[in-house]
Amino acid sequence: MTLDKQAITADLVADPELIHFDNAGASLMPRSVLETQISHLQLEAELGGYRAEAERMPAIEAVYDSIAALINCHRDEVAVVENATVGWMMAFYALPLESGDRILTAEAEYASNYLAYLQMAKQRGVVVETIPSTADGEVDVDALRGMIDTRVKLIAITHVPTNGGLVNPVEDIGAVAREHGIFYLVDACQSAGQIDLDVDKIQCDALSATGRKYLRGPRGSGFLYVRRRALVDLHPPVVDLFSATWTGPDSYELRADARRFENWENNYAAKLGLGAAVDYALALGIPAIESEVTRLAAKLRDRLAGVDGVTVHDIGRRRCGIVTFSVGGRDADEISRRLRQNEFPTSGSGPSSTLIDATRRGLPGLVRSSVHYFNRDDEIDRFVETLGSIAGNG
Ligand SMILES: Cc1ncc(COP(=O)(O)O)c(C=O)c1O
Repeated sequence: MTLDKQAITADLVADPELIHFDNAGASLMPRSVLETQISHLQLEAELGGYRAEAERMPAIEAVYDSIAALINCHRDEVAVVENATVGWMMAFYALPLESGDRILTAEAEYASNYLAYLQMAKQRGVVVETIPSTADGEVDVDALRGMIDTRVKLIAITHVPTNGGLVNPVEDIGAVAREHGIFYLVDACQSAGQIDLDVDKIQCDALSATGRKYLRGPRGSGFLYVRRRALVDLHPPVVDLFSATWTGPDSYELRADARRFENWENNYAAKLGLGAAVDYALALGIPAIESEVTRLAAKLRDRLAGVDGVTVHDIGRRRCGIVTFSVGGRDADEISRRLRQNEFPTSGSGPSSTLIDATRRGLPGLVRSSVHYFNRDDEIDRFVETLGSIAGNG
């Protein structure tokens, strides 16, 4: 299936002339996502939040079905949360890790996740180790196999790291985790919406994602998947009257489903908006989305490599819509700001955002451009032309 780019452009709320290459920062919502949210906010203003929620309950419940369809799981295995960080942290801090337990993670792990490992190392004495990367830059699955022993209690991998275009081989890693019965947590924050995510193929126990990036959903929305089998043993790090029922003066009972990782109050407009975003992606088809994103990103990498002074720093056998580069010895934030002044939103990404990978590869600050399927070939031409003149002008 190929994408109908004309229809996709017509669904943009943004000016079609805006060249938005910051989709891994926050993408552009399609009209249906915006309208879904506005209509719920309108209803809340007209009826009050509680009545609006009751009236929209079937649609709210359907959000869980949409997410379940996106990642091939059961609706009971989905928690809808504020963002990917909350989802990931809920699963991570629920793990009963003890002194001496080993956490294995990727060199290009997301900074916040790594900070949580370090905190766990400090507080509980767990050991954090990075799995070496292959020459291509992805997690070396053979090296991972060689690191396994009975003390490994968690394998936690970022599917698509902050920068570098890399797509880690989460299915191959999952096979190792499953073989040894090790809890496997996948950060799919930047892959959701651009890459097919099938939790049965990945064989993960938990997976987190955000709404605002490649899913084109609202800010302040995300979800956590937790496999049914794993749910029973995972006590959320915090409980409230939504995640648990107060059954007696000294007792409470957790919800049986993944919503034990949610709490009572919700931004229902954002939740519905996230559902609309997932439905939009599903209607287009993730394989078609991935193929267009990959095509545009490959073209952008290719064109950037031809610009004097520009170095593309991407790695991995399989590469996604994120394209990172530096311009001579120039400051990445300054280049990013100059691009923004020329109406090309991108982001800067400093070495501390992927400290281990950046140190290993001696990376300078990077400019991160990230394309989505609604971008067009002529936008790449204009972007490269503008960057060429910024690079040439000092
Ligand atoms: C790989 C990765 N994981 C997690 C997050 C956090 O997502 P959120 O801001 O939705 O909490 C990000 C955000 O940039 C990310 O790139």
